[in-house]
Amino acid sequence: MEKTLTYSQAIELAGKSHIRPPLKNVRGVPLKEPIAKNFESVWDFCPDPTDILIATYPKAGTTWTQEIVDLLLHNGDTEACKRSSIVVRSPFLEISNPSPIPSGLDLLCKMSPPRIIKTHLPIQLVPEGFWENKCKVIYVARNAKDSLVSYYHFDRMNVTQCEPGSWENYIQKFMKGELSWGSWYDHVNGYWRERENRNILYLFYEDMKENLQREVERIKQHLDLSVTDDVIAHIAEKTSFEVMKENPMVNYTFRPFLDQSISPFMRKGEVGDWVNHFSASQLEIFDEHYEQQMKMSNIPFRTNL
Ligand code: A3P
Repeated sequence: MEKTLTYSQAIELAGKSHIRPPLKNVRGVPLKEPIAKNFESVWDFCPDPTDILIATYPKAGTTWTQEIVDLLLHNGDTEACKRSSIVVRSPFLEISNPSPIPSGLDLLCKMSPPRIIKTHLPIQLVPEGFWENKCKVIYVARNAKDSLVSYYHFDRMNVTQCEPGSWENYIQKFMKGELSWGSWYDHVNGYWRERENRNILYLFYEDMKENLQREVERIKQHLDLSVTDDVIAHIAEKTSFEVMKENPMVNYTFRPFLDQSISPFMRKGEVGDWVNHFSASQLEIFDEHYEQQMKMSNIPFRTNL
């Protein structure tokens, strides 16, 4: 049973090490200290071949995809998918949360496969067992500028994330790969390069916004599920931004560390909100850097965003 804590109780229980934690370098990737400390046990995690891994750089639509996959596994049964919050139904592999909220590994060892597992780890830090066991993997990428904007607001409202600082500095940190879970550029490219070798369905947030039913169908096929077209349409309807924003099992109102009065977890759910954040000079610097970083990449991000 999940415990409901007030914000101040949660902060007290979390202890200092979880509040605005420093970053520690793990094999070249900056991770929050509690995750870094726990990393070797995560690395040793042995998945079941039926486990499904949803991997993203933060803020790419992870929760959205987790809910879609849980609904697909439950043939569109929305009541079944309200059995508990998304963090319990689909554990966060590397998260090591303060007591009494269980860590990802604690939750996973109590669940029976097939389990829907979330990770933000870059591909080189994903435990080998996922590849050895040929687990189904879904990667969701979101364009860099919207990811950056969403991550900035998330870091403002989530005290278990690092202190975001000013918007100007935040852009710099993103470009240098200094935010938790490292470089967006390396992350999206790492999974892209391996997608054919390693059974990875590579999705784009922007495609999901454009035609959710089509993308849910692709997920269904990747997972080899027999779900009817009507159920696919129903799942697309129940996972629209508007519906998910009001669903307490996915909108993170159950997480006391998140101060939704600063910025809601289900914030805007749009493509292109970056235009409301970047100044002309910030945009120029960011775009030039992006060109450099991505010049060897053939990921079909839409350039007209
Ligand atoms: P914004 O901050 O741009 O609104 P994650 O789950 O990876 O943390 O991603 C969160 C981002 O996905 C937030 O973006 C959130 O609003 C958006 N999101 C969550 N559910 C969504 C949905 N059903 N449709 C569109 N966007 C969604």
